[in-house]
Amino acid sequence: MSRSRIAVLASGGGSNLQALLDHLHGLGNHRAADIVLVASNRADAGALVRAGTANVARATIAGPRAPEGSSLPDLLQGHEIDLVVLAGYLQLIPPEVTRRYAGRMINVHPAPLPAFGGAGMYGARVHRAVLASGVQVSGPTVHFVDEVYDHGATIAHWPVPVMTGDDEHALAARVLRAEHLLFPRIVQAVAAGAINSATLPIGNLTPFDQSRDDASLARRLDACIAAQPS
Ligand code: GRF
Repeated sequence: MSRSRIAVLASGGGSNLQALLDHLHGLGNHRAADIVLVASNRADAGALVRAGTANVARATIAGPRAPEGSSLPDLLQGHEIDLVVLAGYLQLIPPEVTRRYAGRMINVHPAPLPAFGGAGMYGARVHRAVLASGVQVSGPTVHFVDEVYDHGATIAHWPVPVMTGDDEHALAARVLRAEHLLFPRIVQAVAAGAINSATLPIGNLTPFDQSRDDASLARRLDACIAAQPS
């Protein structure tokens, strides 16, 4: 099987990058993709350290924080990237890149969309907005990327309950645990061609139950994703 070549773009610590590295490693020969590049708009991003530890090529993307960096289109072309994965990447992707990678660029957002997304909605602000709204369900949304922040077609949303007494830290930690399980599985499914854009979003994901261990949650997710028509 020929594997997709993934670039992960990340601005921060890169825990989702790590979850993806670990998941693909765990799949061994069943993995549909390899991460061949990690790039960041911040030279000091923790994600670049993780990439170095995993022996993955890394690069800095030119921008206000890194004038010495490389251009994103050049990086993606130079590394022959098939699939672009945004894992906490805070820069808007130029339209020439979103157009070239339509249907081949994926983002994870830590709340329901479109209600809690858009320019400036990242990090703790997202969870504060969820709590302030009074909704009882949050959870990660994985979606294709277009030229507007947090706007492309939803691939999957995993409902994560908001609990009585939650503050932004407690909610963020619960949602991040869900992201680490959901996002790598969606990336693998997209790379494998197992997701049919005509039947998105993936429906009926059993709500996240924090009393279950990761292995049990992962089995349920795998079953839901495998049940999708492809
Ligand atoms: C995650 O919450 C993700 O949903 C959002 O940015 C955060 C990145 O966290 N897009 P990390 O750098 O992967 O730890």
